[in-house]
Amino acid sequence: PTTYRLIDGKQTAEEIKVEIAAEVAQRKAQGLKVPHLAAVLVGHDGGSETYVRNKVLACERVGFESTLIRYEDDLSEDELLAKVAELNNDPEIDGFIVQLPLPAHINTDKVIEAISPNKDVDGFHPMNIGRMVAGLPALLPATPSGIVELLSRHGIKTSGKHCVVIGRSNIVGTPVSILLAKNLDTGNCTVTLCHSRTQNLAEICRTADIVVAAIGRPEFVTADMVRPGAVVIDVGTTRVADPSKKSGYALKGDVNFAEVAPLSSSITPVPGGVGPMTIAMLLLNTLRAAKGEIY
Ligand code: GUN
Repeated sequence: PTTYRLIDGKQTAEEIKVEIAAEVAQRKAQGLKVPHLAAVLVGHDGGSETYVRNKVLACERVGFESTLIRYEDDLSEDELLAKVAELNNDPEIDGFIVQLPLPAHINTDKVIEAISPNKDVDGFHPMNIGRMVAGLPALLPATPSGIVELLSRHGIKTSGKHCVVIGRSNIVGTPVSILLAKNLDTGNCTVTLCHSRTQNLAEICRTADIVVAAIGRPEFVTADMVRPGAVVIDVGTTRVADPSKKSGYALKGDVNFAEVAPLSSSITPVPGGVGPMTIAMLLLNTLRAAKGEIY
């Protein structure tokens, strides 16, 4: 059908931010502390600068405090670990993120493990991942929970459906596979997790009721890989040079939208799909951390 539904993540994220802002205002009126998110940005990666700026702006929009901590990319691992320890112990800070990727001389796993699980609003700490897998209360990674929330708020039924996830990263593919397979209102999927070594990828994708593309390869998912009527969630955000844009680049998803959209029943655009949801869920995690809802 050429009558597909565009899943507007920007609008859904706005709705969530309105809900968060109302709760913050209510808490403020009760004399409670306003949630405070800190973000650590190392170096000058263009994408990371944009993401962190958008996270700080989103904090202002919902009435959170925010602190941006910037370092040049020659920062040592020990200096970064010292800042993490300081943020862990700062009672004013409810949650913080260290924006990834980090420079190659810094051990990312070591930095993530140094973050207090109760302030780990990215949900990247092994404690939060383990608790998520076990079905215990946890801070959940923002992009996977944003995808679940998008499906839920668009009334897309998942129970018993076959969901094919393409990409097994720690921050999207692996956790979204786990969440969608769980016995939750939006879950109970039969999940297939595909990756770079998968054989017969196109054939497997064609059996999906829901496709989640999270490989970071622009326009990787083509029409021959999608069954008519499938739901398509595009997590890709690769910058591709485009002289016609004033930024000099365009954001490309992992799905060839022009080809795939007319086949799908519903599809997320890039930009304006999953990306804004990631930020909304980060704010929600920060509110939960501030309320001590999890730990
Ligand atoms: N890099 C790509 N996605 C993310 C994210 O959600 N959080 C952080 N901190 N870094 C990222």
